[in-house]
Amino acid sequence: MPWQPLSDWTHRHVLDLAAFSLDDYATVLELAQRFRSLPSGGARRLPALQGRLMTTLFFEPSTRTRSSFELAAKRLSADVLSFAPSASSLSKGESLLDTARTYVAMGAELLVVRHRCAGVPAGLAAALDRAGERVAVLNAGDGLHSHPSQGLLDLFTLARHFNPVAPTPAALRGRRIVIVGDVLHSRVARSNLWALTACGAEVVLCGPPTLLPAAFAAFVAAPPPGQARDPVAARGPLRLVRSLEEALAGADAVMTLRLQKERMHQHLLSGLESYHRLYGLSHERLRSCAEAVPVLHPGPVNRGVEMTGDLLDDADRCLVQEQVLNGIPVRMALLYLLASGLTAV
Ligand code: NCD
Repeated sequence: MPWQPLSDWTHRHVLDLAAFSLDDYATVLELAQRFRSLPSGGARRLPALQGRLMTTLFFEPSTRTRSSFELAAKRLSADVLSFAPSASSLSKGESLLDTARTYVAMGAELLVVRHRCAGVPAGLAAALDRAGERVAVLNAGDGLHSHPSQGLLDLFTLARHFNPVAPTPAALRGRRIVIVGDVLHSRVARSNLWALTACGAEVVLCGPPTLLPAAFAAFVAAPPPGQARDPVAARGPLRLVRSLEEALAGADAVMTLRLQKERMHQHLLSGLESYHRLYGLSHERLRSCAEAVPVLHPGPVNRGVEMTGDLLDDADRCLVQEQVLNGIPVRMALLYLLASGLTAV
């Protein structure tokens, strides 16, 4: 595929969107749009990654992210290996780094890693760099920290919604995006905050104090520890409101997040029904914003908690399936960019 990147792509790994510049977002969206518009059917596979090996190392459950990465790699003709922790030598005490190096010894160049602890993909990337291995690590979700490919596919979905012909970062500028729900436990929300504010969107966070601490209002104010500077010169504003009605007024899109029950050990809620009453989305609740305002959710959805089943099934309003579909070209773009970087001299 003759394609010249819009700008220099300098990332060896993709670990956190806090490190992405506006050019990086533009590059990923442009390439994703190209992959998205390829005809589906017979000629689905592109030869770009022929002979290259991608391994998914998922130490935490996943339905869509792992399948999406695997499909993306296959559409680029890569070989794919999938690591299953319970059936592996991890149960015999092999360390995570040694496990990863086993796959590297087999020729894996692209390691897609999910772990319940924040920082594991970054730690692995650093250790492999120190060992002189030519591999790229893609963070597929680490604890509460980051989920860059989800943030990028959400960005792509929104950009396509606002400007189907040219889904660039500029499509987000000045748009008001509401993120409602369990922000505290959401690596998806954190990645979206970096991506959306970078593109000049106004982000309104909404949720109860136990799931949305006030400190989130300053989330993008400074780069994370270990990163010297913010590569984005001017970010869109970030606000925090407690009332859903107030948040929805003037919204251009609403993203709701899964209530992460498995990460809640501190009884942060009085009950799912009262949560749904206050923060759950429904057609009725959305009456306070314009008809065309779409609803996004990274999945998996707790039906009837974050939103009603009716809303989830309303494809005119709810972009959940569109997000799943867009995940494939976005991950193709990431794999393509990282693999190209590994072969460049
Ligand atoms: C998310 C995740 O695992 O971080 N799901 C996903 O990747 N689409 C969100 C979640 O688990 O709630």
